[in-house]
Amino acid sequence: MQLRERGEFTAAADLLAQAMELAPHWPEGRFALAESLMLAGEHDQAAVEFKSYLALDPADSMGASAKLVILGANPATAELPRAYVERLFDQYAARFDTALIEDLKYTGPQRIREAITARFPQRRFDHCLDLGCGTGLMGVAIRDLVDRLEGVDLSAKMLAEAHKKRIYDAVTQDDILGALRQKPSTYDLILAADVLVYVGDLAPIFTLVSSALKKSGVFVFTLQVLAVAGFRLGTDQRFSHNPTYVASLLEKPFAAHTITPGSFRREREVDVPGFLVIAETAA
Ligand SMILES: C[S@@+](CC[C@H](N)C(=O)[O-])C[C@H]1O[C@@H](n2cnc3c(N)ncnc32)[C@H](O)[C@@H]1O
Repeated sequence: MQLRERGEFTAAADLLAQAMELAPHWPEGRFALAESLMLAGEHDQAAVEFKSYLALDPADSMGASAKLVILGANPATAELPRAYVERLFDQYAARFDTALIEDLKYTGPQRIREAITARFPQRRFDHCLDLGCGTGLMGVAIRDLVDRLEGVDLSAKMLAEAHKKRIYDAVTQDDILGALRQKPSTYDLILAADVLVYVGDLAPIFTLVSSALKKSGVFVFTLQVLAVAGFRLGTDQRFSHNPTYVASLLEKPFAAHTITPGSFRREREVDVPGFLVIAETAA
């Protein structure tokens, strides 16, 4: 790994290839070899190794299928493997708050709160669901505006950090779709701060959110901007979405929506272009 940190990707790949001769069924080693080849610009060979990794770990907890899409070796995808998202955030959980707030200058939760108070001054909410609540940064920002606050997330370690903050009335380890399916006409506020960037096709989520909301319910979320039509998985292994495309998906399940451009985090000292959406169910 020191070779990779020094940018010596071909040397790292050579070393890992030797290691794989001794331990051919070691998934992490196979993935590291594939990634080193990708970084060295050996894209065809990297794709072969990512496919070999997938044979060793069909659940794809390291995200090889996303790398294959980025390499152009697999067709575009509408979702990331659940095992990958779970592992990514389990590994990230302990340093998440510091990394997001200090390094990435993450402001999503505050911007969502400001958007809600500007659109609905004086309104309090009875029952809020925080989708992909992670370590609870969104919960902290919204707690005083809601009576009951629930969170759902795939990552047990992110949820353990949220639990330590003692701001949620309940947290559940589940996929967004699974959590929404169980709760028709339950909430008056549903939030998704920097979460739907891990989902390509948003149509099923929009339908289920609208069913999980009561009348005059509010759904607020952030996304990253894609300048061309539709949605796309980027090299950062997050999806970006075209705002006009997102607006077209919101039309049927929601009575009204507003889309506001903004940036909620920085990557390598550059603002990531995004947008914030408020969608409302009929009164
Ligand atoms: C970048 S973090 C944002 C966390 C929090 N919303 C915040 O603003 O700090 C994304 C979170 O979404 C969760 N997540 C991603 N896809 C998910 C899915 N399909 N179902 C449930 N949680 C998901 C991840 O586990 C992670 O904790």
